[in-house]
Amino acid sequence: MKRRPIFRAFAAVLVVTAAFAGVSACRPEGPDKSPEPAAAPETTLRNVTSDPVHYTIRVLFSNVGPMARTLAPGTVDRFSSRTAMDLQFSNGDHDKLYRLEPGSAHSFRLDERGKLEMFKGAHGLADAADLAPYVPTPMPVVEKMLETAGVGPEDIIYDIGCGDGRILITAAREYGARGVGVDIVPERIRECLAAAKAAGVERLVEFRRQDAMTLDISAATVVTLYLLPESNLLLRPKLEAQLRKGTRVVSHNYTIEGWESRGAKSETLTDDVGTEHAVYLYIK
Ligand SMILES: C[S@@+](CC[C@H](N)C(=O)[O-])C[C@H]1O[C@@H](n2cnc3c(N)ncnc32)[C@H](O)[C@@H]1O
Repeated sequence: MKRRPIFRAFAAVLVVTAAFAGVSACRPEGPDKSPEPAAAPETTLRNVTSDPVHYTIRVLFSNVGPMARTLAPGTVDRFSSRTAMDLQFSNGDHDKLYRLEPGSAHSFRLDERGKLEMFKGAHGLADAADLAPYVPTPMPVVEKMLETAGVGPEDIIYDIGCGDGRILITAAREYGARGVGVDIVPERIRECLAAAKAAGVERLVEFRRQDAMTLDISAATVVTLYLLPESNLLLRPKLEAQLRKGTRVVSHNYTIEGWESRGAKSETLTDDVGTEHAVYLYIK
């Protein structure tokens, strides 16, 4: 299974500020007329591997020492803090050290060599899968996805994890196609609504905040994906159960494991910073 730039993009980042809830939440007893301070942002760490992850975390500018933690598979640790935290863990070969920004979401996943790594995430909700961090598809790749899927005015496109809505807005503007996009991060949906309005296509596209795993996609004639390979796999039963025969599924960079026989076409293109992108078309 190929892991392309989205994975590298996750690995690159990670600088934070945070402080544990217990550390930052001390307030004096008794009447207090001062305004309620804004809640400290929440930084989250999710374990997407199938083994427990052992790590230590240290709050910067606090007198709390490093804390050793074990995160069970599929669970999320949360830290409310206003100052940075340093995270340390071993990938079996060497120690990895990251500084975490307050209010950011992260996932422990295996990298392309099967080694433990920390990646940027989209959200820290424990009850919804984190299908991929927000990395928008470059516009030339959006164009290629729509062209590869043969999108036209009769289509209803579902973008699963729609980010800023660029795929559906482009499809509406250039081809007159209708679209439904969901994203779990409220800020993304606000961006989608503003962009749809600015492009004058609000009547053709619908955006809502929703966990993609709960979305009914049976009305789609085209589905667009830019998610991690394991997320495509997680979605596969939904695609198989809900999509009508003949529906086109177009995926940026990642294949749908097990759908080799449905593969109709693949294209590659290089963006203006020299990164190669793949577009895979499947027919249900
Ligand atoms: C790589 S981005 C792709 C955005 C857009 N489709 C594009 O190609 O430009 C993946 C998006 O999936 C969203 N996401 C992650 N987990 C999700 C979930 N459980 N339900 C809905 N959206 C999710 C993220 O917030 C992010 O915006």
